[in-house]
Amino acid sequence: MSLERPSRRVTLALVLAAAVSLVLNAVFGVVRIALPDGGTAGQATDTVALPAPNTDGDVSVEAALAARRSRREYGSDPLSRRDLGQVLWAAQGITRRVSGYRTAPSAGASYPLELFVVVGTSGVEGVDPGVYQYRPRRHELVRRRSGDVQSALRRAAVDQASVEVAAVDLVVCAVDARTTEKYGQRGRQRYVPMEAGHVGQNVYLQAESLGLGTVAVGAFADDRVRELVGAPADHRPLYVIPVGTRA
Ligand SMILES: Cc1cc2nc3c(=O)[nH]c(=O)nc-3n(C[C@H](O)[C@H](O)[C@H](O)COP(=O)(O)O)c2cc1C
Repeated sequence: MSLERPSRRVTLALVLAAAVSLVLNAVFGVVRIALPDGGTAGQATDTVALPAPNTDGDVSVEAALAARRSRREYGSDPLSRRDLGQVLWAAQGITRRVSGYRTAPSAGASYPLELFVVVGTSGVEGVDPGVYQYRPRRHELVRRRSGDVQSALRRAAVDQASVEVAAVDLVVCAVDARTTEKYGQRGRQRYVPMEAGHVGQNVYLQAESLGLGTVAVGAFADDRVRELVGAPADHRPLYVIPVGTRA
């Protein structure tokens, strides 16, 4: 056997190993690849698994569009974990495992958005109040903070009651560098905020089809919101989106 050239058996074994790792990654997400996945705000301390999303609901896109409204009053019933998972999937869920493509489009598939979830007291069945980060690839939440953050978030959002009354608040943050690396300042000024808009509309339509209420909130103190969700300095909050059961 020559030292320079691997034998055909070795080559075959290497090709097989690569194929197996690709299949494992595609099926289970076992092999970590370099795509953003909600892991930018420190180490995971606690995770909450979310039920697999439904990709075949009963409400048509047209019906959801026709009925969509900003709803600022909510009932006191908690969200089910299934409904929360469904809304998060609509916002940023993975729809192609290998490529990592998501429910919302992204300039150059750069995926600059990170989704934090502020869970209120009795906000979600079986989930403690606190701040969580959504990890799209695993379709799970990672706890970042414990305790009630909603009342402080309300104050940071110019005292808008919807923020505190909702079962949860989604906080959409942007890591601009992921997009400016390829597109420069046009990425920050246009593409990234456009992507937050896509997420917002997905959440509106998903909430409508589940019979939930939501409203896109843009009025808040950026630095305070970032601090409350425990996000690093390079995370720019773009939206706070309360979601709750209907009043
Ligand atoms: C970028 C943006 C920022 C918004 N900010 C707020 C907000 O801070 N508070 C609020 O109650 N509604 C907010 N809204 C919701 C609008 O008030 C609402 O979309 C508008 O009144 C039209 O009503 P509709 O959504 O029911 O069609 C915002 C909407 C957008 C698109």
